[in-house]
Formats: sequence, C-alpha cells, structure tokens
Amino acid sequence: MTWVGKVDWELKHFHGEELSTHRGTSYNSYLVKDEKVALIDTVWGPYDREFVARLKEVIDLREIDYIVMNHNEVDHSGALVELLREIPGTPIYCTAKGEAILRGHYHQDWNFVRVKTGDTLSLGSLTLSFIEAPMLHWPDTMFTHLSGENILFSNDGFGQHFAAESLYDDTVAQEALFYEAEKYYANIINPFSPMAARKLKEIQDSPLEISMICPSHGLIWRDRIDLIIDKYAQWSNAYQENQVTIIYDTMWQSTRLMAEAIAKGLTQAAPDVTVKLMNAALDDKNDVLTEMFHSRAFLIGSPTINNGYSHAIAGLLEMAKGLKLKNKKAAAFGSYGWSGEAVKLLNERLSACGYELLDDGLRTLWVPDGDALEACRAYGTALAGKL
Ligand code: FEO
Repeated sequence: MTWVGKVDWELKHFHGEELSTHRGTSYNSYLVKDEKVALIDTVWGPYDREFVARLKEVIDLREIDYIVMNHNEVDHSGALVELLREIPGTPIYCTAKGEAILRGHYHQDWNFVRVKTGDTLSLGSLTLSFIEAPMLHWPDTMFTHLSGENILFSNDGFGQHFAAESLYDDTVAQEALFYEAEKYYANIINPFSPMAARKLKEIQDSPLEISMICPSHGLIWRDRIDLIIDKYAQWSNAYQENQVTIIYDTMWQSTRLMAEAIAKGLTQAAPDVTVKLMNAALDDKNDVLTEMFHSRAFLIGSPTINNGYSHAIAGLLEMAKGLKLKNKKAAAFGSYGWSGEAVKLLNERLSACGYELLDDGLRTLWVPDGDALEACRAYGTALAGKL
C-alpha cells in the first residue's frame, strides 16, 4: 500500500463552518499495487490537480485498473473528475448508494461497478473485500479490506482531523491524537452509534485479520489498533466519563459568577468528578460538544434575554440534539432581571433533547450578592448527590 493523499495543514473548518479542525486534516488516498492496481478514494476538489500531478509521479495513470470509492462525500470524491479526464472508463467500485451520490454530485455516466458486503476483487495475489457500512456516516459508506497486508480501509470511521507529515499513529502526540479521534466521533459519527456498534462487532467477529486501519482522514492506526477499537466500542455505547461540564453564556457576568460558584460547590462535594467550565459564546462549539459527549452531566446557563436564552446556547443545543448524545443528565441556570423565562425554556429544551433533568434549575435575580453566590455553591453541592 502506498499513501497518495493530501495533507491539508490550512483547513480550520469542515462541512462549511459546522466543524472546527484546529489541527488541519488530510484526505487519505491509497494505491494498492499487485498484478492489478487499485486506487482507494481520492481527495477534496480544490486539491484535484495537485493530487493527479503527484499521482503521476508514483504511477503511470494508465496502470490504474480500478478505483474503489468507499464513500463519496466531496472531500473524497472531489478529484474524480480531474482523474477520470486522464483515464476515462476506469471502473469505479462503490455501493449502489455510492453510485447514486456520485451521479448526483458530478452528473457523469462513469463506469460504475456496484458492490455489496461479501463481494471481492482480486488484484492477483491480493484480494480486496468489500463491507458495506451504511450510515457510518453516509448511506453509501463501505469499508474495504486488503488481504496479505491485512489492511482495513475504513474511510471516515476511525478518522481524525489531524494534519501530520508522518503517516502513522505512533509518530504523533497521543493525547492530541485521541482527542481529535474523539472529537471526530462525537461530532460526526455519534448520531449513528447503534450502526457503529453493530459494525464494530461484525468486524471483530469476522475472520478478517486487521494489522492496520487506514482511515480517510488523519493518521493510520498501526500501533494503537486495539485501543482505538476499544475506544469506538466505548464511544458507541452511551459513552460518559466522570465529568460534569458547566456551559454558560453571560451578558454582564452574573451568569458567569453563578457558573463559577456552582462549580466550587460541586467540586467540594464531589472531588472525584472532573468539573469543566466553558463559555458557549467564546469557546469553540465543537470542542464544547466534545466535552458534552465526554460528560455524565452538563449544566447549561444563560441569562434571560428577550424572553428567551442566548443565541450561542440555542445554537449549541440545536447541534447537541442532532448529535443524539445518550446517557446524559442536565440542569439549567441563569440570571435574570424581570421576566426570567430562560431556565424554564432551557428545561423544556433539555428534556426534548432526551437528557434526564437533575432538578428544576436555579435562577438569580440581577447581580448575585454573597447570599446568592452561597445559594449557587449550595446548589452545586446538592448536585453531587444527584449525578
Ligand atoms: Fe470525510 Fe464523510 O467524508
């Protein structure tokens, strides 16, 4: 296997502005040479010419017999037009949904070969085996296994938005790598966790040997394979750590003061719990969502503004609902001056998201004084018994 992808050090946002990618990303494409040659996935469109030019340095394009498209979102299929301009007619192996997506995106009558689980493609001494993985994370997704080298090409599964000059998991800082893998899971894969759990078991129960997992983003797993598989087993099963995240927005600091006092009370009463505070308007939304995914409970704080809660909190909860976070407890708090609806509305929203409400929440009128802050600390202390 030869890596022929593109490292994108510049990328700071993915899916438009939906997902932050602080460490950039890579679009991994792989060339497998045997008697026959297969190219697995391509790269995002803006890099199509660069991709094809560098591919020519590795191989005469006419020697590519097959293109395998595990998933056809534009970050992987974007270079197909440029590539097929050079080698028209090259068969594209993909799922039926993959063909529909490629036709819908590029409106080309390419040479599609539909495959499904159990289908194989012989390259000579090596064989590619296809494994459909629908909704991980698009309906077209499949994995491809390469015999001999025992590689699982998993596309977005096991991926991380992580740019690096080196290819392999053991060559970068482990904490950063696993954070990016978890952020990727929380923000992209988690809505489809039941499918992820089933697919993981199917692969673990299958006779396929896996010595390397080659995702379509980030580092290749060759050293910590067992650990990333174990992490996926945990993440896909109503994941939580012993953490409470207090997420707030604030206009004139009153809700921030409440958040900090609640955190003090909770930490004193439950020192074994990791307590983190995040400002929903200032912290990166996807990092906040990752901490919510990581938590057993979260508190959401907002001042009342225009009979509601803040836009940062509203946006965050809209995203959190879509991510289908499971096994979470939640509560609301916030300061107010007159109408004070935010906490009640937040309770309704948190319940609608499927989180178990810890209590009715806590409100403070105007700026919290010493007594009000003591009430916040006591509220945090009481929370420890409800987690
Ligand atoms: Fe990396 Fe779903 O594309």
